[in-house]
Amino acid sequence: MKLATYRQAWPLDTVICPCDAELVEVLEIMEIRGKTLFHFGTGSHHLVGRSLPRPTSPNKVLAVTANREEYDAYIDIVMEDAEIAKLYKVMFCDIYTLSGDILPVFDFVTLFHLCEFYRPERHSYAPLDDEALLALMIERTAPGGILAFYTGSCAFSRARPLIEDVARRGLIRKLSQYKHLDLYTKV
Ligand SMILES: C[S@@+](CC[C@H](N)C(=O)[O-])C[C@H]1O[C@@H](n2cnc3c(N)ncnc32)[C@H](O)[C@@H]1O
Repeated sequence: MKLATYRQAWPLDTVICPCDAELVEVLEIMEIRGKTLFHFGTGSHHLVGRSLPRPTSPNKVLAVTANREEYDAYIDIVMEDAEIAKLYKVMFCDIYTLSGDILPVFDFVTLFHLCEFYRPERHSYAPLDDEALLALMIERTAPGGILAFYTGSCAFSRARPLIEDVARRGLIRKLSQYKHLDLYTKV
């Protein structure tokens, strides 16, 4: 069975999909520095990675893509800029195949595309579905760390009940909202 990949590389479009640009803004506004982040969905633009270098206490990001062109773009970027390479690591993978034993604990986790891509027939090999992915990433968030969701996602109507359920169960608590981003803290 073939891996479920993402067919078309995603260029930067802050009108259709402003989540990564809003993430860069929120990190600045909240003065989040020297932290480790997990980021679901790089795009071919790698805006989040490109924004990392800063003079003091830069953040470090582990991001995932399921598109070859996006991954190739990452290689081009880090071959040209070792400062970005030090801070920004991208994994080509199907996020639904991740597991806790190969992930560190993060201070900040984005799940902007929760519920957009999982299809039971395409992911029958995968150990995770969206609910299990959410549980895994909560588990891999440090207590007091932040989880960010994108309310403008085409699948947010499906993601919202999953998020509300874990909030109701006391695993995360709503912190604030910034533009289209809902920010929760791990309890
Ligand atoms: C709609 S694009 C958005 C990219 C970027 N976050 C933005 O808003 O510009 C979705 C992203 O999710 C990634 N993606 C889709 N399915 C994935 C999967 N199963 N595992 C890992 N990444 C995946 C794609 O490679 C792509 O980078």
